[in-house]
Amino acid sequence: MVALSSDLKTRLASPLKIGPVEVKSRVLQSPLSGVTDLVFRRLVRRYAHDSMMYTEMVNATGLHYVKQLPKIMEIDRNERPISIQLFDCRPDFLAEAAQMAVAEGADTIDINMGCPVNKITRNGGGSSLLRQPELAGAIVQSVVNAVNVPVTVKTRIGWSEQEINAVDFARRMEDAGAQMLTLHGRTRAQGYNGSARWEWIARAKQALSIPVIANGDIFSVEAAVRCLELTGADGVMCSRGTLGYPFLVGEIDHFLKTGDERPSPTPIERLQCARDHLIMLWEYKGDRGIRQARKHMTWYAKGFLNAAELRGQLAVIETVTQGIDLIDRAIEHLAAHPTAPMEAEEVGLVQV
Ligand SMILES: Cc1cc2nc3c(=O)[nH]c(=O)nc-3n(C[C@H](O)[C@H](O)[C@H](O)COP(=O)(O)O)c2cc1C
Repeated sequence: MVALSSDLKTRLASPLKIGPVEVKSRVLQSPLSGVTDLVFRRLVRRYAHDSMMYTEMVNATGLHYVKQLPKIMEIDRNERPISIQLFDCRPDFLAEAAQMAVAEGADTIDINMGCPVNKITRNGGGSSLLRQPELAGAIVQSVVNAVNVPVTVKTRIGWSEQEINAVDFARRMEDAGAQMLTLHGRTRAQGYNGSARWEWIARAKQALSIPVIANGDIFSVEAAVRCLELTGADGVMCSRGTLGYPFLVGEIDHFLKTGDERPSPTPIERLQCARDHLIMLWEYKGDRGIRQARKHMTWYAKGFLNAAELRGQLAVIETVTQGIDLIDRAIEHLAAHPTAPMEAEEVGLVQV
């Protein structure tokens, strides 16, 4: 049982203020490339009506040359609040991309300064900006000048163990005009390994006046509460914990608002959600949606009898009907054997 201290409850009772934008939830769904498309966000929002969500990261140089909105930048007219995340190293291209994002309906513009992937850092984007704080500041300024919505930054605590510069970098982002900072408590060198070091988030929070959002290893209500207490952060952002589990943001949000733990979904409810996800992806993206659905389906199929076998089958589906049949059969089987022992595996962290 997790307890919500009255201190924390009071501290988080008011809306999260990102400049003039008020968000009625302190729990955010992170941007996840290849995952947080319009369909996934719709599922998360079923359980977390008020939370801020992010598109997958969009390349500003690509937008400059193609001048056409990629599908990953599409947002639903009704989805609010929503941020479009951009990455690049060119202040002018980012400013232009931000204007396109605002025209698409973004409530805020988030700039990715944390992505560790070589393909991105080689070109000067993502976490490589941690080593170029001046350029990073110029980027924020340029985007702030170009749009009339808040500009936010998502970054890591440093490039490597020897180059941790979270606090100075965060201050510089604030001075450049960023209205919120999300800090992933790992270095670029860590990738997704080891633990997130929340103590650095606490230090950045103490140094800044703008809201600071804690990110890294928020896999449960209990972790969210511990992180908020330790860091003093203004909110938490969930990432890998939501893969195959779009319930997480809502569970934490519900707890922070009420002090009550929402019952976890049963395996059947998780499979029903997987089924919806599959159908929605197919309707939105056609056959490409089915190929993308395979990984999601395997993430859902965890923690119940014969889950491993189902995962193997879902990983290679070719059609929506094939996927639906497999899921429906698994649901029938679970319904017929409600007391069947669980497989010895945890629902939760997905290896990426
Ligand atoms: C598959 C995957 C895709 C990601 N895509 C993005 C992205 O597009 N933009 C971004 O800022 N971070 C991205 N991240 C980083 C996450 O948002 C988050 O910062 C990181 O996973 C740490 O949180 P966690 O320990 O709770 O997973 C991605 C992470 C994963 C695993």
